[in-house]
Amino acid sequence: MWKKLRAHHAKVSDRRFETLVDRTRAAEFTAQAGDMRLDYAKTNVDTEGRALLIDLLDQADVAAKRDAMFAGAPINETEGRAVLHTALRNLDGGSVLVDGRDVMPGVLETLARMEGFAADVRDGRFAGQGGKITDVVNIGIGGSDLGPAMAVQALAPYHDGPRCHFVSNVDPADIAAVLRGCDPSTTLVIVASKTFTTIETMTNARTAQAWMGQNVADTGAQFAALSTAADKTAAFGIDPARVFGFEDWVGGRYSMWGPIGLSLMIAIGPEAFRAFLRGAQAMDRHFQAAEWQDNLPAMLALVGIWHNQICGHATRAVLPYDNLLNRLPAYLQQLEMESNGKGVSMDGADLEVPSGPVVWGEPGTNGQHAFYQLIHQGTRVIPCEFLVAARGHEDDLHHQHQLLVANCLAQSEALMRGRNLDEARRKLSGQFEGAELERQARHRVFTGNRPSITIAYPQLTPEVLGQIVALYEHRVFVEGVVLGINSYDQWGVELGKELATALQPLVEGRQNAKGKDGSTAALVDFLQSHGVS
Ligand code: F6P
Repeated sequence: MWKKLRAHHAKVSDRRFETLVDRTRAAEFTAQAGDMRLDYAKTNVDTEGRALLIDLLDQADVAAKRDAMFAGAPINETEGRAVLHTALRNLDGGSVLVDGRDVMPGVLETLARMEGFAADVRDGRFAGQGGKITDVVNIGIGGSDLGPAMAVQALAPYHDGPRCHFVSNVDPADIAAVLRGCDPSTTLVIVASKTFTTIETMTNARTAQAWMGQNVADTGAQFAALSTAADKTAAFGIDPARVFGFEDWVGGRYSMWGPIGLSLMIAIGPEAFRAFLRGAQAMDRHFQAAEWQDNLPAMLALVGIWHNQICGHATRAVLPYDNLLNRLPAYLQQLEMESNGKGVSMDGADLEVPSGPVVWGEPGTNGQHAFYQLIHQGTRVIPCEFLVAARGHEDDLHHQHQLLVANCLAQSEALMRGRNLDEARRKLSGQFEGAELERQARHRVFTGNRPSITIAYPQLTPEVLGQIVALYEHRVFVEGVVLGINSYDQWGVELGKELATALQPLVEGRQNAKGKDGSTAALVDFLQSHGVS
């Protein structure tokens, strides 16, 4: 199938796809889930290409594997685990069995406990030693940070609980800046760590513990924990009444739907959090039921595969024209690159095709004034993914939002159409002539024919955010299955962690550099000569 796709690509790669984009194509190269629309008409995928891409899904048995995931089969084969973040939002979907045990009663019970605690914090029934909780500090990293941090920002218009802060980096500058702005007597510290062993999180948690200890009588009273490791949260001294557990079938980067979402729930309230879950559940149902051609996650994944594995575009820009989604690119970097950045397939053989793409981006219009130059005129093609809401939340600023939307649509149009030399010459004809006209005109040529897709939705509500995140999760799943990757482990992060632990005594000057490579040893020397501390 890869061969056929490559052959098809060779046949159509020189074509200007803008010549295809009429109203019929706009209707046919669009998929819709509820009131969310994915438009991939501004790409070079045509009917034949799409059919070949869909064949990839059948060849890889995506439907059966999808059903196995939802049913709780151990599809994370290198760790022998189920992959069941979907169970966390299965609010009314019936039982889900793992090893013959229905996990839903436990999921719903934890959700109810979270809701009780979040309501207590918001209403002041759970208070700090100095009064009602004013600030929540979530200490976590990776999946225990990026999801809730992104969502708290995305749902700022719905934020009516205490202020939320996120500390992730082991760099002391991170926690110091956050704690400086908080009153310990009215701050709730949430230690979020699936394993409760992550060195950054545990180091920051101990720093927060010391800060609390210096300022209030009962050090542990304002701590809560989100983890799969009840023994470790107990050893840290966190009251089990404030420990919200989950099971190992929830992957870190897929975990914001359960306890890891507690800070979000406290920020927006249990009801809005349920709406967020409902949005994701609606996307789950769409993913399970829609024909491939109408299936948003499947088509998003296939267009991505077309651009990366077939056209050879190694990166993809995610460009939300929705400032609330400021942190979405960072969130997607972990979701996509930690999931599908692998060089071997499930059976341990080398991948036959490149792994998942580099994902990066920034909100528009800011990016337009920073890196879009390269997207429009650089020598590498970067497929772009625009996200745009029909409406913002600022009722009195419609005009400004319309300007934002116009900018979003203008970018995808500009990428597709470009500007040829004749057009550039015409634009400059009054200003320059002869060789200078020629030279100046060449600088103003845009090759165009650069693909983009657009995801459009009515407004960024909790429900829509749930849909968006679930859409990307399932996109990763589909891409992983087609590439033959296990999207649910992350062995690639281990080596650096081991070496950091080994290097610490060297950096602290307790060990010499014997056995270290020359570059690392010299850098340690340099940093020590400047008083590393
Ligand atoms: O180092 C990678 C990683 O394991 C991520 O997959 C995970 O989201 C993050 O670290 C944090 O892990 P934990 O929640 O166990 O602290």
